[in-house]
Amino acid sequence: MTFRLAPSLLSADFARLDREIAEVEAGGADLLHLDVMDGRFVPNLTFGPPVIAALARFSTVPLDAHLMVADADPLLSPLAEAGVARVAVHVEASPHLHRTLSTIRDLGMAPGVALNPSTPISLLEEALAWVDFVLVMSVNPGFGGQRFIPETLSKITRLRAMPGAGDLDISVDGGVGPDTIAPLVQAGATTLVAGSSVFGRTDRRAALAELRASGAENPAPQGVQT
Ligand code: DX5
Ligand code: ZN
Repeated sequence: MTFRLAPSLLSADFARLDREIAEVEAGGADLLHLDVMDGRFVPNLTFGPPVIAALARFSTVPLDAHLMVADADPLLSPLAEAGVARVAVHVEASPHLHRTLSTIRDLGMAPGVALNPSTPISLLEEALAWVDFVLVMSVNPGFGGQRFIPETLSKITRLRAMPGAGDLDISVDGGVGPDTIAPLVQAGATTLVAGSSVFGRTDRRAALAELRASGAENPAPQGVQT
């Protein structure tokens, strides 16, 4: 099973983002995951389009924006101008989801839908036709370094089995590390977002190599249900 690694800048040193990005790119990052938070949808604030535009000028891998905001629509055009490749909006914060996803695609970006841990995949029944990827949250959004919620594994298995999800890119975000990545890949995850397990290590190249090797392992670790 092939999968992509998307380091999340949330756990990087914000005072030296240029070097942090260069290190994970040199270490083989496939995407850069950018967590945009507004202090309303989630109890934390990060960065928005101006900072992302600055990062885009020296980043060499596609930018993957995860919008944890109460109102995503006003950010979409600035994110496209900044050079973002794909955008996930939360289904819980998107009353007009079809319009929002259509706007993302019309702006030339890949649309995705993010689901909180308690949000059922049945809410995607219609929207799967309009997205390029689903971002399954395996922690409650807002902070890095939280513990992986194990029920995410069966959620991914069930999502993969939904009509129209056969070749869907399933991203997983939260608590992804060497101990959780193998069962996630086996369950059907194709893009693994990892914050603290990459930027919490001094050697980012080694951290990414370890995730890649662990994700390719076959047997699920004991005690982890798939
Ligand atoms: C959390 C963010 C994640 C976060 C994951 O709300 O969406 O992208 O950076 O951090 P870790 O990998 O440390 O759980
Ligand atoms: Zn995220």
